[in-house]
Amino acid sequence: MQKYFLGFVGFLFGIVTYAQTQTIDQKVDSLLQKMTLEEKIGQLNQYTSDWHQTGPITINPNKQADIINGQIGSMLNVMGANYTRQYQELAMQSRLKIPLLFGLDVIHGYKTTFPIPLAEAASWDLPAIELSARVAATEAAASGIHWTFAPMVDIARDPRWGRVMEGAGEDTYLGSKIAYARVKGFQGDGLGNLNSVMACAKHFAAYGAAVGGRDYNSVDMSERMLLETYLPPFKAAVDAGAATFMNSFNDINGIPATGNAYIQRDILKGKWNFQGFVLSDWGSIGEMVTHGYAKDPKDAAYLAITAGSDVDMESNAYRYNLAQLVQENKISVTLIDDAVRRILRKKFELGLFEDPYRYADPTRQQEVLFNPEHAKIAREVAAKSVVLLKNEKQILPLSKDLKTIAFIGPMVKLKRANHGFWAIDLKEIDSSYIVSQWEGLQNKVGKNTKLLYAKGCDIESTDKSGFAQAIKVAKKADVVIVSIGERYNMSGEAKSRSNIGIPGVQEDLLKELKKTGKPVVVLINAGRPLVFNWTADNMSTIVYTWWLGSEAGNAIADVLYGDYNPSGKLPMTFPRDEGQIPIYYNHFNTGRPPKDEQDKINVSAYLDLPSSPKYHFGFGLSYTTFQYSDLKISQSQMQTDGSIDVEMKLTNTGEYAGAEVVQLYIKDIVGSVVRPILELKDFQKVNLAPGETQTLHFKIDKEKLSFFNQRLEWTTEPGAFELMIGASSADIRLRANFELTN
Ligand code: NOJ
Repeated sequence: MQKYFLGFVGFLFGIVTYAQTQTIDQKVDSLLQKMTLEEKIGQLNQYTSDWHQTGPITINPNKQADIINGQIGSMLNVMGANYTRQYQELAMQSRLKIPLLFGLDVIHGYKTTFPIPLAEAASWDLPAIELSARVAATEAAASGIHWTFAPMVDIARDPRWGRVMEGAGEDTYLGSKIAYARVKGFQGDGLGNLNSVMACAKHFAAYGAAVGGRDYNSVDMSERMLLETYLPPFKAAVDAGAATFMNSFNDINGIPATGNAYIQRDILKGKWNFQGFVLSDWGSIGEMVTHGYAKDPKDAAYLAITAGSDVDMESNAYRYNLAQLVQENKISVTLIDDAVRRILRKKFELGLFEDPYRYADPTRQQEVLFNPEHAKIAREVAAKSVVLLKNEKQILPLSKDLKTIAFIGPMVKLKRANHGFWAIDLKEIDSSYIVSQWEGLQNKVGKNTKLLYAKGCDIESTDKSGFAQAIKVAKKADVVIVSIGERYNMSGEAKSRSNIGIPGVQEDLLKELKKTGKPVVVLINAGRPLVFNWTADNMSTIVYTWWLGSEAGNAIADVLYGDYNPSGKLPMTFPRDEGQIPIYYNHFNTGRPPKDEQDKINVSAYLDLPSSPKYHFGFGLSYTTFQYSDLKISQSQMQTDGSIDVEMKLTNTGEYAGAEVVQLYIKDIVGSVVRPILELKDFQKVNLAPGETQTLHFKIDKEKLSFFNQRLEWTTEPGAFELMIGASSADIRLRANFELTN
């Protein structure tokens, strides 16, 4: 008897051990075997909550019943420990108890908000960017969120496109580094950790190249440009381990990205061996009918699933058509199984089968949201994101002894405005956690400084009746600070603008304030590069503050007073005029480049505009100055598999401690296809005390010299190269030439 009993215990032990040691793939396979086709298709179906929508709702099924029936695999716009738990409880009533995934657009912070991603990119500070994503993940995960629809890694060369605010700007190299950092930040030490969320690299692909900068518009692009400029940040996201991808609304050369097998199957899941799953964008499967690419939702479902889109967000196309497509033998169950497997794998990795509520923890949520430590980090990242564009009269940093400061402008006392677009304030917002610019300055100035306020005007209206009061207040002050810019939702999804000037009469207000003769500091708050020529040409002191998040007020005050010395550099070219768009630094030379701005005869130029931008990619000032010197390269000939060591010295020649972003560019002088006039290939952000010198080292290797040749192979070609190191793409301080031999 005892023998049998022991045998039975051993058997049980074996089962338990087997269950524990089963790999995730084995668990997925055994679950898959139990699933009906309907349940499998349910996993591919995603709906928004009824509470909030971030797109046009076209369907209104009974979601509660659908969850219980296993017809929904994931949801978006469900947030909060209690609310996510309620939905998860429904999933636990389903036959197989497969947990739901909760996804959300956690774009630049969850409750504690950070600078918009474009602003963060201006910091060129990869550890800071990673940390910001880390904090966002920590807060979101404690609220039951498993998945952020970020980072957006779309390269953008057109500031009319509102979604430039959500990405890292125009440059592929910088964009790739930032994509990597953000994915690492969101996913932390890996899925399954309670403070990690799945990242979602979006929008695959080329969404940022919408014709005319109009959101959702078509993309017409050479394959070379797609491979070389637009795809590398996505590859970087895969390399960083991104769990998911989202495809894009646009068509690429006539084929909607959602139904594009070349980019999703051949490149992403094929060449890059991406093991995660691909989510459609909101309704993008159904929209293939509107594009004129699919006959009807059934055709759209067929095109999307065969092209590699695994999850249908809000189209209902998979839910109502995939089973029929299988029955008609148009698609195989294997195709569906592949998609389901990818999703289940992530649910296992997140630990949801062990405890479906493990992320929805009200106690942790309470501890984590708006944690003061998070606010501190947000403040630091915000200060790092500020770009000083002009400080001609050295008005900045402000003296601590000023008697009276006038703080004027429509942005001064606003709170929500600092968040910018894509802040998680779905229904309501707790503005007590947002530090207005007024509060930030108040926190900073000493008892002996008086702060005066006038609004001056609204952001958009043409009413100038507030000017008189603003002038009166300005006249009483030693220094006038004026905060102007774009309303928080003038840039973002579906927020393209054809005219990207400073709205309303805000520049007119500046003109009047300038007449007072007082020193004026201009703060520009925006979700994109704006055009502001009058201000740029006539005001002596300009600080680009973007939309900096919940700590904007404190961070701006830190910069104004020199407690943080600005170190931001523009991640996008600022045009002089919308007519120059698209404008970007790494363009080709053409056969007829102008000799200078005056040269207009038979050259590639505008008669009515200089060719150069207003502010160049990589530009940004500091309160101190930096000297670049002593460039040495280890050799002037490099074999393809060899490398060149580059050494230089950087000295802080000014009076303030500060950080400089040293940028390394390369030009391939002659190629089998023409190459850009210069391309960013490396950078370092270096902190130096006044008078301090540091020796910096870079390495040139094959990867930095490679490009897609005529046959679109990623390779190098022997020949001459120029190496340029500088403080911006137009401020090259050191140059050297070298040769690549075979
Ligand atoms: C549409 C946007 O393009 C996408 O980025 C976002 O994640 C989804 N809506 C969900 O809100």
